[in-house]
Amino acid sequence: MTMKTTQITEGLASLTIPRQSLRDPFHCPVFFNPAMKFNRDVSVLAFKHSMKRIGVKKAVAVDGLCALGVRGIRYALEGKNVEKMFFVDANDDALPFLKKNVKANKLERVSSIERTDLNRFFLNSETFFDFIEIDPFGSPVFFLESAFRRLKKTSVLSVTATDLANLAGARMLPCIKHYDARPLHSAYAHEIALRVLVGRVARTAMKFDFAVLPLLSFYRRHYVKTFLLCEKGAMKADDMIPNIGFVNHCVHCLHRFPSRRQKECCPSCREPLEAAGPLWLSELNDSKFLDALLKDVRKDHSKDAKSVEKLIRLLRSENAFPVSFFDLHVLAKKSGVSVRSVERVSDQLKRKGFQVSRTHFSPTSIKTNASVKEVRAALR
Ligand SMILES: C[S@@+](CC[C@H](N)C(=O)[O-])C[C@H]1O[C@@H](n2cnc3c(N)ncnc32)[C@H](O)[C@@H]1O
Ligand SMILES: [Zn+2]
Repeated sequence: MTMKTTQITEGLASLTIPRQSLRDPFHCPVFFNPAMKFNRDVSVLAFKHSMKRIGVKKAVAVDGLCALGVRGIRYALEGKNVEKMFFVDANDDALPFLKKNVKANKLERVSSIERTDLNRFFLNSETFFDFIEIDPFGSPVFFLESAFRRLKKTSVLSVTATDLANLAGARMLPCIKHYDARPLHSAYAHEIALRVLVGRVARTAMKFDFAVLPLLSFYRRHYVKTFLLCEKGAMKADDMIPNIGFVNHCVHCLHRFPSRRQKECCPSCREPLEAAGPLWLSELNDSKFLDALLKDVRKDHSKDAKSVEKLIRLLRSENAFPVSFFDLHVLAKKSGVSVRSVERVSDQLKRKGFQVSRTHFSPTSIKTNASVKEVRAALR
């Protein structure tokens, strides 16, 4: 197939891309979405530091579902720590772009280009990988089991999910079907979406006697993303089980709380509860890991690096807070009061001794250890 092409640079990579992808990436025979640069910027940083974290100086890595190769190329060029990058994509049309881009960036020596189905690649491979990237259209669940068969004992798995409507509860059945978990249509649906994804990866990991530790997880626009440190060991996997559970939510009084098992009756108003899960209940990020990313990204003064820094600072600030957050606009509307600024409500709660943080999930929301009753009181 002949396509009009154009040249761009992203990070340190020089790329040939279909010209159409600059205005309409979703209908292009070879996929490249310029709007995912932010995701790739964060991921390059996380790749570099995750390999440091597990003590790997030269990584054997997979850019699964690589399309024209931008991610793997950037990881190799900017991480400066790749021994071998396997680029895998089933699309015939992507192949000439991939070959050209690998060559243009002088990465032939460290690259292996595989035009095949990703599951088939994993099942036929005899290599164990330090790092696997799964960046699909929609849900990554179809590739998780085969990925866990090929991860090294200590390794890192990076997963994106773009089926956010399913994960965030707009479509309940596909979420149950693919993630084996109930989402929650609520003001904090995007946090539930991220926890459902991490929970699903963790439950798949357990089947293969792996434990996972989320190093970096975030939501943005139409996707959720997580980087997980994976460690093989039957007891480590057993120890991870308490991290999985449910979030119980009262539609009547908006009280919410986590639990290992689903609860039926609201302890605050006795109305029936809705439950989301099974999902990941523990921290979505590793604070030490975020500190390392922050230190690094602060050295870069570009506008894009500032956006990455802002995200990581928010993740760091909100990390230790309980599950869920309060959208002050939604809460004010439900309470029949006029909305107050995040700063005013936060100050009021802090004066009462509560802890409060802004959250990357929403600019009009707060995370706090105060109950919904206390937040409502602070809004009045
Ligand atoms: C979202 S795009 C990847 C984007 C790319 N990682 C980036 O950062 O620009 C998903 C890719 O998965 C490929 N794909 C879909 N199903 C596949 C499968 N079963 N095995 C291998 N590749 C597949 C598609 O051809 C497409 O290029
Ligand atoms: Zn209630």
